[in-house]
Amino acid sequence: MRIKFSTLPAQKAKIRPMTDIVPITSNSLAQAAKILEAGGLVAFPTETVYGLGANACDDRAVAGIFVAKQRPSFNPLISHVANSEAAFALGAETQFAAVLAEHFWPGPLTLVLHRTASCPIARLTSAGLDKIAIRVPAHIAANRLLTAFGKPIAAPSANPSGRISPSTAAHVRAGLAGKIDLILDGGPCENGLESTIIDCSGAAPVLLRPGGISRDAVHQVFEDAGIAARLQDPAEISDDRQPIAPGQLRSHYAPRAKVRLNAHHAVDGEELIGFGPVAGAGKLGLSLSLSGDLREAAANLFAMLHQADGVTAEAGTVIAIAPIPITGIGEAINDRLARAAAPRG
Ligand code: TXA
Ligand code: MG
Repeated sequence: MRIKFSTLPAQKAKIRPMTDIVPITSNSLAQAAKILEAGGLVAFPTETVYGLGANACDDRAVAGIFVAKQRPSFNPLISHVANSEAAFALGAETQFAAVLAEHFWPGPLTLVLHRTASCPIARLTSAGLDKIAIRVPAHIAANRLLTAFGKPIAAPSANPSGRISPSTAAHVRAGLAGKIDLILDGGPCENGLESTIIDCSGAAPVLLRPGGISRDAVHQVFEDAGIAARLQDPAEISDDRQPIAPGQLRSHYAPRAKVRLNAHHAVDGEELIGFGPVAGAGKLGLSLSLSGDLREAAANLFAMLHQADGVTAEAGTVIAIAPIPITGIGEAINDRLARAAAPRG
């Protein structure tokens, strides 16, 4: 098993001395697309709030979002695409999704769907979940950027974790200057309120986050389409096929195998996922980061848990994981590891 990024030197959060704010032009969009291609971070306007974008198919680029925002846990991110066709190449289309996409895309609606078999979205983008969140933004500059880049862009709101969402380029600069590569200035956002999120993957649609599109508007669309459905609230969903609130369930990110934390050595056929000086062991010998780089570890985390689960779950063995420092993005890594290791409900 080759370990991703093993040849890269140890890195801290990249220091960018200046973060340019540029108006939207063909040139600045081309520059932004180039930065995204290289794994960088670009803030861009949408009709809801400014997003902090990275290549949604690149775990390492997405890890950069969590570092820049100093997000203490890996909440799954929304993947933005240019049109419905691109969206349903990533997430499996359902009847609810088709009707809502037809009426509300492009617009402030995010659909949560099962990954398609060929879905290239990075595991870190969906925080290890098998469902992904997808949105087709209505903002002309966002659409031009998505078209120029040609791939999905993962983007949370472009603010430091815990601060209010940005509705102007100046807000973005105030919170993230020096931590991201470029800010595309498209003027103030029309809505200033994040998108409505609806899980359309199951037997009933579930309203995960109220937002720019009201519950009544959704019900009207269902009625017009002859669909006898109403939006359920997460609390109404009692089985584990529906996400309740991602990131909040104690064992939501659990692999099938048991997980042992802070392991310095593998015992009894365990699959040990290493970090820094603790070398990986077992069939795969994975290491989150040989050089002890937390961003690299974040980028590898969910993909490696999936890989290790593949060889341990059937064999009835355990995934052991080396200690990860709690500093910086290490807090988010430890948060997810604690959930992965928590007793299953
Ligand atoms: O308007 C918006 O939605 C803005 C713009 C930039 O598009 N983005 C935004 O992203 O608000 P963020 O990261 O602040 O919120 C994303 C929400 C989180 O509440 C997350 O839990 C949910 O989307 N989410 C993402 N992936 C999910 C998944 N696979 N299942 C359920 N919820 C998911
Ligand atoms: Mg946010």
